[in-house]
Amino acid sequence: MRNVALLGPPGAGKGTIAARVAAELHLLHLSTGDVLRDEVARGTELGHLAQGFMERGELVPDHVVLAMVRERVEGREGVLLDGFPRTLAQAEGLAQFLPLHAVVYLAVSKDEVVRRLGNRRVCASCGAVYNLVTQPPKAGGRCDRCGEKLAQRPDDAADVVARRYEVYERDSRPLVEHYAQQGKLITVDGARSPDVVASDVIEALRP
Ligand code: AP5
Ligand code: MG
Repeated sequence: MRNVALLGPPGAGKGTIAARVAAELHLLHLSTGDVLRDEVARGTELGHLAQGFMERGELVPDHVVLAMVRERVEGREGVLLDGFPRTLAQAEGLAQFLPLHAVVYLAVSKDEVVRRLGNRRVCASCGAVYNLVTQPPKAGGRCDRCGEKLAQRPDDAADVVARRYEVYERDSRPLVEHYAQQGKLITVDGARSPDVVASDVIEALRP
């Protein structure tokens, strides 16, 4: 089994694609954003620490996220990391406890991610993700799976999206080159439909 990370700007489709790839290749899908949102919702100490950073579109400090990931994946095989690592320090820290075999970079333009995030709706109850334009819920503003009301993620407000993108450019984009130099980078055009993107990623990763 192999360990893989999904890299790409906010709204590139990491969560959407990771869910499909993990199901097909039987990988453990770990989204650091999802874990942090759950900690915030449960009002834990980690949630209190993370909340302000997330609301502003800034990164949660490296040592906090590294400890959170280490606790969940150290010694495992077949992990699909979504949204981690996001800084060179996180990449170096990760290498101490989990070898990565491939890093998939979902390439999507800024205009496209801004459009996607403006139209994203999420179910706070079951975590399902929709898009008013590309993946609309069947019944108005309610979740297809559990019937709960859909909402916008607080950090999908336009000003926070702009900040998240800047932070991505500054801190996370250098990882593309970092993993290319290690010969681990697989670049996939993320601007196509989720089915096509997911099937490309699955083919690229299939043993
Ligand atoms: P996180 O939750 O990871 O946010 P992100 O990286 O900004 O990415 P998103 O989850 O917004 O987008 P996505 O790429 O998953 O796209 P999705 O599939 O939903 O992190 C949130 C915050 O947590 C960070 O800002 C930071 O504060 C903190 N954090 C998390 N990880 C951290 C770390 N490692 N270090 C420090 N801090 C960390 O799709 C988006 C929309 O597009 C949806 O509406 C979807 O339906 C639609 N869509 C998806 N794919 C397609 C497609 N192919 N075509 C058309 N529409 C599509
Ligand atoms: Mg996500």
